[in-house]
Amino acid sequence: MRTDLVIRPESSQDADAVVAVVEAAFTPPEGAARTLEAVLVEELRADGDVLPELTFVAELDGEVVGSVVCSRARLGEGPSVGLGPLAVRPDHQQQGIGSALVASVVATAEQRGEPSIVLLGDPDYYGAFGFEAAAPLGIGSPGPWADRYFQVLTLRAWRPGLAGPFRYAPAFERMDEPG
Ligand SMILES: CC(C)(COP(=O)(O)OP(=O)(O)OC[C@H]1O[C@@H](n2cnc3c(N)ncnc32)[C@H](O)[C@@H]1OP(=O)(O)O)[C@@H](O)C(=O)NCCC(=O)NCCS
Repeated sequence: MRTDLVIRPESSQDADAVVAVVEAAFTPPEGAARTLEAVLVEELRADGDVLPELTFVAELDGEVVGSVVCSRARLGEGPSVGLGPLAVRPDHQQQGIGSALVASVVATAEQRGEPSIVLLGDPDYYGAFGFEAAAPLGIGSPGPWADRYFQVLTLRAWRPGLAGPFRYAPAFERMDEPG
């Protein structure tokens, strides 16, 4: 990994740069001008559901090249953290930047006593950080995805009694709605 990489909490001044990184990393649906993930980031912010202490940018030479956004979620009767979108600008991928961003979320969530981090993503990527399929732990998926993509990282504060249905922040649910 580059030694000049800086991972720091996102600030309000990073808002446009983060959206640009997310737009560059993901592909818009056919016929659409924008990626679902960039719209999601904007809506999570507008709703006040971004968790600022768990939302980081990766900076190289003063430029934002990566981003991870975490948002308020519910698991059973308690709070949880939804991780995503995670994005690294295509010209800076495969340099360990995505891993550094995920590692920052995990370490900070652990320090803050969060019990769990939940995401939808590629198990081949997130498995390296200890994420595992959530359903076998009794964590109910909020959508129709294959179980292997709906993953959880349980932290030290985790107790099996905390399992239950998982709900992302409302902006995630609006992603599925037409229009
Ligand atoms: C996924 C993403 C964030 C990874 O960021 P990155 O900085 O390129 O990742 P890293 O360099 O930290 O990769 C670490 C390892 O994961 C591997 N990896 C990267 N993307 C992967 C993927 N989609 N599936 C499996 N492994 C992957 C890399 O090969 C690397 O492995 P290695 O250390 O054994 O060589 C980045 O590729 C991206 O922005 N992709 C487009 C958006 C996206 O798909 N986001 C994730 C949504 S779940």
